[in-house]
Amino acid sequence: MERLDKIIASQGKYSRSEVKKLVKGGRITVGGTVVKSADMKFDEGSDIAIDGVSINYRKHIYIMLNKPQGVISATEDRTQKTVLDLVPEELYRGGLFPAGRLDGDTTGFVLITDDGEFAHRILSPKNHIMKTYHATLRDELTDDDIIRFKEGLTLGDGTKCLEAYVRVLEKGETNIAEIKICEGKYHQVKRMFASIGNKVLALRRVKMGGLELDSNLPEGECREITAEEIELLLTKE
Ligand code: URA
Repeated sequence: MERLDKIIASQGKYSRSEVKKLVKGGRITVGGTVVKSADMKFDEGSDIAIDGVSINYRKHIYIMLNKPQGVISATEDRTQKTVLDLVPEELYRGGLFPAGRLDGDTTGFVLITDDGEFAHRILSPKNHIMKTYHATLRDELTDDDIIRFKEGLTLGDGTKCLEAYVRVLEKGETNIAEIKICEGKYHQVKRMFASIGNKVLALRRVKMGGLELDSNLPEGECREITAEEIELLLTKE
């Protein structure tokens, strides 16, 4: 059981003082009955409605962002645009953060949530949830390179990487490889290719776990991740 003003404020749209005003105006109902006081306690799953419209309570929110270049994976920054600046008002709430960072020049799938435990599950290398990237490379990949990734590369500074799975998607004038990693070390993909003498020219994250970046989601836009998709995120692919 939780205070009504706290339940509603947790959804991001109204502050607790605004909820008090709504209650005074007789605009909030629980199970169809007008609520008299904002500090009354209810179950979070109760049928709470404002002006007859259900608040559709969700304890946590999970958002897919198609990150463009030039936006940083931070919660706030004085000068640069952050991924949170791209979350629209209707999905915004306190406590949101990007679960895992992409470099400023990397594009694609960023998961934004307010669920720290879930983020940890997705990101912890122990859980082997793969993050899939498409990397445009300066040089063609060799079979030997692919084996080295699979065996676990050692980066230039001696850092050891877990196994990574690489395959060639395009070769010739443009070289594009798919790479799957379950870790998130600083600049990891770029440093992995640098360690075999290659260079990443462009990088895009296309999948987290078993969930692909929605191809209908334009760059710079967000959408909420559905309950079924949350299960896919947790798939070890
Ligand atoms: N690896 C990188 O090098 N950069 C990213 O943004 C993500 C993974």
